[in-house]
Amino acid sequence: MKVIVIGTGYVGLVTGACLAEVGTEVVCVDVNETKIRNLERGILPIYEPGLEEIVTRNAANGRLSFSTDLAAVIPGAAVAFIAVGTPPGEDGSADLQYVLQVAKEIGQSMTDYLVVVTKSTVPVGTAVKVNREIKQALQHRDTLLDYDVASNPEFLKEGAAVQDFLKPDRIVVGVNSDRSKEVLEQLYRPFLLNGRPIIFMDIASAEMTKYAANAMLATKISFINDIANLCDLVGADVNMVRKGIGSDARIGTSFIYPGIGYGGSCFPKDVKALVKTGKEYGHTLRILEAVEAVNNDQKLVLFDKIMHHYEGELNGVTFGIWGLSFKPGTDDMREAASLVLINALLEAGAVVRVFDPVAMEEAKKTLGDTVVWCEDMYHAVEGVDAVALVTEWNDFRLPDWSRMKGIVVFDGRNIYDLPYLKKKGIVAYGIGTAQPSTIEFISK
Ligand code: UDX
Repeated sequence: MKVIVIGTGYVGLVTGACLAEVGTEVVCVDVNETKIRNLERGILPIYEPGLEEIVTRNAANGRLSFSTDLAAVIPGAAVAFIAVGTPPGEDGSADLQYVLQVAKEIGQSMTDYLVVVTKSTVPVGTAVKVNREIKQALQHRDTLLDYDVASNPEFLKEGAAVQDFLKPDRIVVGVNSDRSKEVLEQLYRPFLLNGRPIIFMDIASAEMTKYAANAMLATKISFINDIANLCDLVGADVNMVRKGIGSDARIGTSFIYPGIGYGGSCFPKDVKALVKTGKEYGHTLRILEAVEAVNNDQKLVLFDKIMHHYEGELNGVTFGIWGLSFKPGTDDMREAASLVLINALLEAGAVVRVFDPVAMEEAKKTLGDTVVWCEDMYHAVEGVDAVALVTEWNDFRLPDWSRMKGIVVFDGRNIYDLPYLKKKGIVAYGIGTAQPSTIEFISK
């Protein structure tokens, strides 16, 4: 089976490479010539563990190829995935111009029955618009070619995207015909070993599933962050509370780790877009509005603790920042909490030294020369008053504390053992772990 994937961003490239990995013939298409030339030479536009290897291997064995010319590669294809960007517009809604442009081009160039699948995260109703674009383009050509539109949202996590694609929890596909269902069932068969399910549904439900999944996950995070902040005040330890509630199978232990708020390309964008969709239909998604508000505040939680510690005066105080990307395993800086914290520190007159094992180049695009760029984690804390652990890269998990004497620790991910640090004479703050003084106060 031959498949075209349009858009060689994060989703498109992972989809194309992983489909080729199981034997499908894949052509990845992009309008960006430099990107395509680079991919042909094995240079990837993003960092994702394991991706370079399968791109290179499948390009070498001829199953994966790259092109800027959709019309030239579309003949003979059974499926075309639309995986171009849907950046948030100013009002939070997803901007569909690229998706619809691609749909039009497909209509202008297809030569045979084709299943056109939206893979980008798109609001409910997009498939209808995609369908309209294709139909109009075909009418223009005066042809009666048959096609189907389908929706196949991705649930990839950055840093684990290849594994998520090859061994998915589930595959969700929205279809409106038996013919397209059959084609997509065949395409995904190699991924369904060991009882992994493919769930077919109508197109609107598939589109909604993607948003509902991300909104639910974002809700879990904002919920535990809200509880963590209350734990700080009442003298409870959210780590214990998390374990206590997580052992109830209905709640579960995963995705309830407090921190400095969720970032990345998906949660912030999708929560906003779903709220916007609700508004369009006259329905206020009150929980999601709160999820977003809690998350915006949470990105400043370390800053609030820092201000409290330094009694509101940061002029001339020097900070080391460990980690910049929105989470470990990626160089993605989109909506990263590090940026919010660093900007607040700089605005308050502090000096900021930073280190991240992977995201330095990416972060430089936003931070420029406002911070001191360091060579490693210890260089980042040379001469500092305090360090903020922002991204929980493995590199930061077990620091040599003997090199950290006199440095106050603000742990934004609860990876350090605070009582141990206290014994070592290091002042340290976590998220929702209660200040030592509060614990003493409560136990008296
Ligand atoms: C997410 C979804 O997990 C994925 O299914 C979807 O396709 C895209 O969005 P991703 O953005 O790559 O994936 O990252 P994820 O690992 O889910 O983390 C998102 C953010 O939540 C990160 O900033 C992370 O630090 C934060 N997070 C996650 C928490 O603060 N606590 C948790 O318990 C889990």
